Amino acid sequence: MSACTHLLLFGATGDLARRMLLPSLFALDTEGLLPQCLRIIATARSAHDDASFQALAADTLPEAADPQARSRFLARLSYVALDASDQQGFAALAEAVPDRGNLAIFLSTAPALFGATIAGLASAGLAGPGARLALEKPLGDSLAASRTINDAVAAAYPEDRTFRIDHYLGKETVQNLMGFRFANTLFEPLWNAAHIAHVQISIGETVGLEGRGDYYDGMGALRDMVQNHMLQLVALLAMEPPARLDPASVRDEKVKVLRSLRPIDAASVEACSVRGQYTAGAIDGVAVPGYTADLGRASDTETFVALKAYVDNWRWKGVPFYLRTGKRAPERLSEIIVQFRAVPHSIFGAAPLAANKLVITLQPDENIRLSMMAKAPGLDQDGLKLRELPLDIGLPNAFAESRRRIAYERLLLDLIEGRQTLFVRRDEVEAQWQWIDAIRAGWAARGMAARPHSAGTWGPSAAIALTERDDVTWHD
Ligand code: BG6
Repeated sequence: MSACTHLLLFGATGDLARRMLLPSLFALDTEGLLPQCLRIIATARSAHDDASFQALAADTLPEAADPQARSRFLARLSYVALDASDQQGFAALAEAVPDRGNLAIFLSTAPALFGATIAGLASAGLAGPGARLALEKPLGDSLAASRTINDAVAAAYPEDRTFRIDHYLGKETVQNLMGFRFANTLFEPLWNAAHIAHVQISIGETVGLEGRGDYYDGMGALRDMVQNHMLQLVALLAMEPPARLDPASVRDEKVKVLRSLRPIDAASVEACSVRGQYTAGAIDGVAVPGYTADLGRASDTETFVALKAYVDNWRWKGVPFYLRTGKRAPERLSEIIVQFRAVPHSIFGAAPLAANKLVITLQPDENIRLSMMAKAPGLDQDGLKLRELPLDIGLPNAFAESRRRIAYERLLLDLIEGRQTLFVRRDEVEAQWQWIDAIRAGWAARGMAARPHSAGTWGPSAAIALTERDDVTWHD
């Protein structure tokens, strides 16, 4: 009989496991994508036995799920209670993993527990050649902290068995950035400073703290969203074509972009960044409290950040990348705008010509549209009447039959099967932190406080000024 694959899930009773990981594993199982013999060993501090954990897991599955699929999935789950600071507990855990030839370990716990957990796993023989380790963010809150975590990981798991998660890389449209850029010839020749005036990336969320105040208040929008997700989007948008799709080729290209980011430091931070914090306001007509009321204490943490970044290399010389993200934004929206340059000369007189613009929407719906100028019908005497119209790739319709997947489905499957391309390498994460640390040091040096703005708006007016100084408006 062939050996079983094991998935060890740390933090199995936590929020991420309930909302994302267990439903993702169930979805993969329902589609027959998990190895036939896969045992999922859940672990957390709480006292559970297999049956009570299975009951907890059952509550996380879709109500309409096929009962047979449900029981098959639940039968894969067992539970071992473990306190990461109790190194003895790891021996009991190891007993639950008879085959170590194919072992995937997912740490969805507080980073403070990473060190002890990794040491425990290693001493219990769970870091051998068949073991891969996935870590959920935050991987530290600074370059120094992230190095400490990375060193602890490297002491037990070599880089080619370390899977750092950035769940944005599991999103279909984010992977499609590579498909779009490198499976078509049309855009790549234009994908540079000669033809692109600027790039915008906006990630707005309507949610506030969602009960994560302690974590979020210690991080803020810069470290919660920009350090990871937004910089990965910048890297995928700006990178050179990788030679192949293998992990080394793709990540080599991404890290070059991250290392080419022009530092935003004390000298430039006021011109290139805006910190905001939402106050009471309304979203879709519903009143919502301000951040400090949500949090229950005073705080200067930014819940909104806008940045003007540059990738200092040949391809992107002088092209601003405007980034903004915030909680309690007017809408849930993740969108990338690639703004092409205007025509060099207009033959249409005074008629305004909008420059072409590529709009890549990641959320709430996935789509790609190119805005183009076209003649509006009519017999106008005084020349052509032009209108801006979208050339629409129609992703939602083209793939209407496909289920919208949770990003973690892709990532969990890749972890189980050992594919690393969609995971973040150590040098990437450290380059990201280095850039972010400089911004934070700049904020501290300049005493830049978070500026208040009403919930339901895209940040304080300074965020609008950030682009308008360059004659650019945020895409509406
Ligand atoms: C997480 C952040 O990494 O990403 C959260 O910690 C944020 O604060 C979330 O809400 C956004 O993810 P998504 O997939 O909903 O855009």
